[in-house]
Amino acid sequence: MDDTDRSDHTPAKSPTGAGNIQAGYARLSPSAVTETTSVTLRVNGTMRTLATLDPRTTLLDALREHLGLTGSKKGCDHGQCGACTVHINSQRVLACLSLAIAHQHDEITTIEGLIDEDLLHPMQAAFIECDAFQCGYCTPGQIMSAVCLLEEAARGVPSHATPDVAAPPSLDGLGDEEIRERMSGNICRCGAYPNILAAIRQVQRTHTRGATP
Ligand code: FES
Ligand code: FES
Repeated sequence: MDDTDRSDHTPAKSPTGAGNIQAGYARLSPSAVTETTSVTLRVNGTMRTLATLDPRTTLLDALREHLGLTGSKKGCDHGQCGACTVHINSQRVLACLSLAIAHQHDEITTIEGLIDEDLLHPMQAAFIECDAFQCGYCTPGQIMSAVCLLEEAARGVPSHATPDVAAPPSLDGLGDEEIRERMSGNICRCGAYPNILAAIRQVQRTHTRGATP
């Protein structure tokens, strides 16, 4: 009998053990692979329920692929570039490193939620005025980080570049070096960094004159 004639249904022998691998897959319960769950997220002030979500879905994929909020970008999908930055309970978070199911009771804000009716957020307006982007792919993440950066400084949260961590930083005391450090998790492959810094500076100045960051 040659190897193509297996009327006795004996699996072909494979030097690579492929037959054993296939047998292993056959033993997996189908429900273990396809199980889904209902997840409710509060995004940009609206409750959104995903009735059949794979519990392994990242927050980034839930936002982009399931809720149609494509403003948050997938650059590396590994926590390296910052393109996926969103706010969760007013903290900046990398959505590609976070599971959606872990945020059912949290307040999630994406770049789409920064806009106030028809009014751009001051940071969005400053990015346009300062020409702080080229291709724009990193821009939503840059803006989300920049908004949180100023809020963190206003709360006195120190950074690696804070000259004296015993003396809490103030918003108006933030220098270029510290802003660059605080934005170092957001990569721009177009190299728009000088104009991004200028945009953040513009909003910082507005705020120190009494407006909201
Ligand atoms: Fe999340 Fe790059 S896509 S850090
Ligand atoms: Fe192109 Fe930043 S504007 S990657």
